[in-house]
Amino acid sequence: MGVASPLDTVRTVSDLRARIAAWRAEGLRVGLVPTMGALHDGHISLVKNSVADCEKTVVTLFVNPAQFGEGEDFGVYPRNEERDAEMVQAEGADLLFAPGVEEVYPEGHSTKVHVGGLGDVLEGEFRPGFFTGVATVVTKLLLQSLPDEAYFGEKDYQQLQVIKKLIRDLDIPVTATGVKTVREADGLALSSRNAYLTPEERAQAPILHGTIAQVAEQVGRGENPRDLEAWAKGQLERGGFWQVDYVTVRDAATLDEAADASRPARVLAAAWLGKARLIDNVPV
Ligand code: PAF
Repeated sequence: MGVASPLDTVRTVSDLRARIAAWRAEGLRVGLVPTMGALHDGHISLVKNSVADCEKTVVTLFVNPAQFGEGEDFGVYPRNEERDAEMVQAEGADLLFAPGVEEVYPEGHSTKVHVGGLGDVLEGEFRPGFFTGVATVVTKLLLQSLPDEAYFGEKDYQQLQVIKKLIRDLDIPVTATGVKTVREADGLALSSRNAYLTPEERAQAPILHGTIAQVAEQVGRGENPRDLEAWAKGQLERGGFWQVDYVTVRDAATLDEAADASRPARVLAAAWLGKARLIDNVPV
């Protein structure tokens, strides 16, 4: 049996555009899966969706320095391009775009995309600059590749809403598709940052999903969201989370505080367990 050749990989915007232009000339539909690498089954589910919907799938791999704050984990963020490339190739991806920092942010780069309102609350409040970093790089990736569809995990629910908003506001001719969160059997949402958990913390981590799922159920039954938020915070603290940044019931589209379940709502939470800051969300 022959050894499969490695996944076609490009590192410059001009090479990326040349590959995609050739596909376009053949009338092929193109899907984009933006990632920061350290891939797990959550990312693989994005690739699977793209491969199912589109004739060609581009996966991007770029650990974006602009979305990490001071003291955050940019330096230690797990990186393994070879393994990531093999994983997405096995799912049928056609091209990897893995640019260096100087290709994405060449000397003198100074334009930023800020999504006002949606990007300023929750994650935007606790990680100042995070969504500007995400919105800037995602705008660039979309304009560099101009895919038909781009795939993002619902695990980062607020990020997905921010991206949908920037696409609308900037008239980028792309559809952003949200893909359901992939979970471990005990409910923990897959995340590259789960690697930071010790075995003891890993055993405590599913409390996050269990708690917000209970909040969602009770809000759906007509209970008061504010009372449930207070209960959930205590529940997480008792479960070993040393800081709860937020646990909140929000309107699913605007992320404004939800008064009840009369409109689609979402329970979102972010809390610290050891060195890991875990986020999760569920629909009401
Ligand atoms: O969700 C991520 O992995 C990143 O925020 C993204 C969308 C690839 C932008 O760097």
